[in-house]
Amino acid sequence: MSQNSDFIPYGQHLIDEADIASVVSVLRSGALTNGPVTAKFESALSEITGAQEAVACSSGTAALHLAISALGVTSGDCVIVPALTFLASANSVRYVGADVIFADVNESTGLMEPRHFQDALNKASPGSVKAVIAVHMNGQCCDMPGIAEIARSHEIAIVEDACHALGGYYPKPDDKLAVGACAYSKASCFSFHPVKTVAMGEGGAITSNDSVFSAAMRKLRNHGMERSSENMKMSEFAVSPEGLANPWYYEMAEIGWNYRASDIHCALGLSQFTRLESSVRRRANLVALYDSALRSLSPIVRPVSRVGGRVAWHLYTVQIDFGRIGQSRASVMNALEKVGIGTQVHYFPVHLQPYYQNLYGRQHLPGAEKYYSFCLTLPLFPAMADADVERIVAELGRIIEMR
Ligand SMILES: Cc1ncc(COP(=O)(O)O)c(C=O)c1O
Repeated sequence: MSQNSDFIPYGQHLIDEADIASVVSVLRSGALTNGPVTAKFESALSEITGAQEAVACSSGTAALHLAISALGVTSGDCVIVPALTFLASANSVRYVGADVIFADVNESTGLMEPRHFQDALNKASPGSVKAVIAVHMNGQCCDMPGIAEIARSHEIAIVEDACHALGGYYPKPDDKLAVGACAYSKASCFSFHPVKTVAMGEGGAITSNDSVFSAAMRKLRNHGMERSSENMKMSEFAVSPEGLANPWYYEMAEIGWNYRASDIHCALGLSQFTRLESSVRRRANLVALYDSALRSLSPIVRPVSRVGGRVAWHLYTVQIDFGRIGQSRASVMNALEKVGIGTQVHYFPVHLQPYYQNLYGRQHLPGAEKYYSFCLTLPLFPAMADADVERIVAELGRIIEMR
């Protein structure tokens, strides 16, 4: 079926007139990039998360790459990454030439728990693990105090992959802390891809409480370029014979990338931030409606297990016992698509990707593989109507012959 206006995708951004006006105002201004809106966007993100620093960049992938690079992770080092995540969490480690050690996850939440982190650590040679990436899958948060306790005793830096979780709060005892506050981590990485809670087209950011680390990421997002004369390595080029800083001069002591976010993208993100709270609330309402409607399909269809906290739900994922209904996931997805309902699978475990199997061989991580084999993401986005949830659950019930 071609996707018409009645089609309900699994995720959908929402653009309003204020968003359009915000972007247009940048288009009418003198600065499309490197202007004041990027700085405003960064301050707004600091305020939302409570972190002292926010560094905007071009995508969530760039955010992870910048954070891992600024930690100094390099070839010969290892980073622990949960197997159930988007490719970018693991790929960011490979970009710096380091090795990924995949950790398993809880089969019913999709989250890496401290025990999975410890198991992965036990597989590494002593001292080789420099960082762990804690992925807040679907919007639910990892057990940060538990992960931090292990990390601390091994001097392992924590990076939160919070790409799913902007606008949420951690579970007790940290329920006053917004996701991205970095109380336990060196950095939290965010994505502003259109299916996420805040859309920038493409965009990302890192929050941190370490100003030196954040300055390093700012430099790396701009080719590693140093412009401040007091930090120059080669004064004979940086300074004129009469002692003036050469105004054209910049230096690169370390390689970086063009990972800047333009002011156009930041204007959209900044405007979307003003609706973050209402969008998180609307998503929570829809999740509650789903949870109650899906009771009629239990135990064959179950929402992912909950770990607490005020979750900013990015995805509404259910686990379906496809074996018991005698249908493949593909046939259920195709049948839903035929009646105008989009679904997706988050995620095929990354350790099973051919690239990683070529590097590390075929590994078996039962929690991630079990979660994957049961999961299906149903539509969730703020513009959905309550009636959409009823329709989706009714169609799902009909397709799996429970209604
Ligand atoms: C968990 C996770 N990490 C990282 C990313 C990468 O973000 P981006 O698509 O903005 O590069 C995504 C985006 O899908 C994601 O879901």
